[in-house]
Amino acid sequence: MAARVAVVTGGNKGIGLAIVQALCKQFQGDVYLTARDLGRGREAVESLSSKGLKAKFHQLDIDNLDSIAAAAAFFKQNYGGVDVLVNNAGILLNSADPKPYRVQMEATFKTNFFSTRDMLTHFMPVVKAGGRVVNVSSTLGYNALTKCDPALQQRFRSEDITEDELVGLMQQMVDKAKAEEPKEGDSPLKAYSLSKTGLTVLSMILARRLSKERANDGILLNACCPGWVRTDMTSPAASKSPEEGAVTPVYLALLPPGASEPHGKFVSDKKVQPW
Ligand SMILES: NC(=O)c1ccc[n+]([C@@H]2O[C@H](COP(=O)([O-])OP(=O)(O)OC[C@H]3O[C@@H](n4cnc5c(N)ncnc54)[C@H](OP(=O)(O)O)[C@@H]3O)[C@@H](O)[C@H]2O)c1
Repeated sequence: MAARVAVVTGGNKGIGLAIVQALCKQFQGDVYLTARDLGRGREAVESLSSKGLKAKFHQLDIDNLDSIAAAAAFFKQNYGGVDVLVNNAGILLNSADPKPYRVQMEATFKTNFFSTRDMLTHFMPVVKAGGRVVNVSSTLGYNALTKCDPALQQRFRSEDITEDELVGLMQQMVDKAKAEEPKEGDSPLKAYSLSKTGLTVLSMILARRLSKERANDGILLNACCPGWVRTDMTSPAASKSPEEGAVTPVYLALLPPGASEPHGKFVSDKKVQPW
């Protein structure tokens, strides 16, 4: 039987690195730290090695389809697929970013929603039976949901929304930002929050599809919030260390064999949250 393998995107720093570190200690199998930049990735692997932890490295830029396809093919060929996939890579532009809101929207939606979806499109077919998929979203996505107009909230909460419909709705938000004059409240944080609304909804759609199409495979897929974590994305004032932020993603990545829940949920502090 092929060896077991866990893959983490954006693993070179912050919460991603802390997830890799925890998996190195707890996951039975090979753990891949992936990063878009070879140098930063290898340095992070070295930093773990100096603590006696053995992570492997593979280049993976989620904004690049060739990079995604090459990584998916690598894991298929060498491990027969993946056992754990943690989609952690994400961006939040600086609040003082001078770019117009439409450009902020496009860049943020690209990485956090569209590229993460590309990851899922390429990797879901290679997730092995019993696999665990964790999408690192944010509670800010829930807060943004509650501010969407009621018809949109209804769609984002419905059980029958399709992936195509969601992709269309997310693209419409970007197109609207491009067509309209900037409004009060437009900011990198607003773009970020809405991108995470989309990622959580996508997670729910894909989980329902797994339940329908691969019901016997026992794969569990969830979205989660790590909490407010001290990383380059936030500030030293945030309440959790990266290690504390990794706790919920790692809990979901290591749900025991035979578990049937949570699945298709939004989870924070290891508890299913309302949506
Ligand atoms: N920190 C928080 O309080 C908080 C709260 C809720 C959710 N989150 C989520 O947690 C995840 C990790 O955030 P963090 O706080 O650890 O942020 P971070 O320290 O800024 O780390 C982000 C990671 O994502 C990587 N990344 C960005 N774009 C990428 C791409 N196209 N391909 C591959 N990797 C890419 C970065 O790589 P580079 O080093 O190459 O840029 C970096 O490794 C994100 O999804 C974030 O939205 C964080």
